[in-house]
Amino acid sequence: MTERYVVAIDQGTTSTRCIVFDRRGQLVSLAQQEHKQYYPKPGWVEHDAAEIWRNVERLGPEALRRAGATIDQVAAVGIANQRETTVLWDRVTGHPIGHAVVWQDTRTDTMVTELDAEPGAEGVRHRSALPLATYFSGPRIRWMLDHHPGLQQRAERGEVLFGTMETWLIWNLTGGLHVTDVTNASRTLLLDVHTLDWSAESLAFFGIPRAMLPEVRPSIGVFGTATAAFPGVRIGAALGDQQAALFGQTCFAPGEAKCTYGTGSFLLLNTGSELVRSTHGLLSTVAYQIKGEPAAYALEGSIAITGSLVQWFRDQLELITSAPEIETLARTVTDNGGCYIVPAFSGLYAPYWRSEARGVIVGLTSYITKGHLARAVLEASAWQTREVVDAMNADSGLALKTLRVDGGMTADNLLMQFIADVLDVPVVRPLASETVSLGAAYGAGLAVGYWPDLEGLRQNWHRAAQWLPTMDDAKRETEYGNWQRAVSRTFDWIQ
Ligand code: G3P
Repeated sequence: MTERYVVAIDQGTTSTRCIVFDRRGQLVSLAQQEHKQYYPKPGWVEHDAAEIWRNVERLGPEALRRAGATIDQVAAVGIANQRETTVLWDRVTGHPIGHAVVWQDTRTDTMVTELDAEPGAEGVRHRSALPLATYFSGPRIRWMLDHHPGLQQRAERGEVLFGTMETWLIWNLTGGLHVTDVTNASRTLLLDVHTLDWSAESLAFFGIPRAMLPEVRPSIGVFGTATAAFPGVRIGAALGDQQAALFGQTCFAPGEAKCTYGTGSFLLLNTGSELVRSTHGLLSTVAYQIKGEPAAYALEGSIAITGSLVQWFRDQLELITSAPEIETLARTVTDNGGCYIVPAFSGLYAPYWRSEARGVIVGLTSYITKGHLARAVLEASAWQTREVVDAMNADSGLALKTLRVDGGMTADNLLMQFIADVLDVPVVRPLASETVSLGAAYGAGLAVGYWPDLEGLRQNWHRAAQWLPTMDDAKRETEYGNWQRAVSRTFDWIQ
């Protein structure tokens, strides 16, 4: 039977999805499952990696059933995953050691501050092109090795393995292949982004044994063949989810950028085969690597909290019962009433990199209603985008002309309009809104010859919606000034 489909696994922060795509890049079916979030202490966020693997095992066949497809019609599987989330497991039993420590978790902040002051820190920053921050995997591995008795010795003997989610999934899918891809490896602080291999000096700096690390591979190229969930199907790609979205938005040329609005939001600008170092608080990261070709790099503006602020508003404050209701509530008022919310729940990422920052709500008066708060929640995503776009423009010396967006929050018209207003550029959304999954599918399809080349993929990109700026300049600048004053308050609140 001819191979008609490619399947993507999108293992995200809040849920896992398996999506079946056809040759035109159209979504044929989707199966999704949320997983439990564990918050054992303030600032701690954990996942159960075993639960996530069980979800993949169930969702894969479910997605195929919904597509009316059989396994022999699947050309390849591609993986896109939440990045930096750190899993350790026992090589023999395959059981995770404790919970996975999630990218938003700030338990390593004291350790990171101390390490940052050490003489070797500059070398780590230079080789990884990242700031030393709680966001990345390396300090988490160190923390786990320190907090499980005997683990360091076991890791040195190669009995304990490390992986981010794609590594964990490929291990389980293939029954024991221990590999990662360059995009995920570039988020650990342990990779040399020029040689695209683990740096012995950076490993020594963190005291992390080489024996526990996976082999680093290109993102697009056959990793191996699945024996579980998709038995007999080749795994053609693995990419960090934000890099997958860049690929799914077909931003293959230097100068092309996208922003994905999910739990957090991540603006990536393709800088081609040149690694560009930011002087304005952005990260340099690997965008993707096709096997046999040089890697493409990107500048990234990472925003930790956007969609998860809406979730907090829903689940912790209980002011709405579903995420889309926030737009309805925000529309009950015409402005924020002078109220700003800066969601520094995990410190502040780009362009500040201040792990000690904590969230603030400023401008409260008895006039403020939950409608104003809803507006301030949405506006926080837009102002944070403005900050990373300013940094991107300053680093590249070019002004962004349009912003390509994707992700769940792009369904919110009020927010998309506000982003166009505060950036003063058009915001465009493609027809294919599942760009993370699409990017993973594209990569996997290219690896096995299901799609011939990048140019063909570009033909699949079609604009579905556009928002044009309408705010006057004076208002924009006044409000941006207010936002920046609110941000400065987050640095005062150190517990
Ligand atoms: O770096 C974290 C990022 O990969 C998380 O993405 O979509 O799972 O929130 P998402």
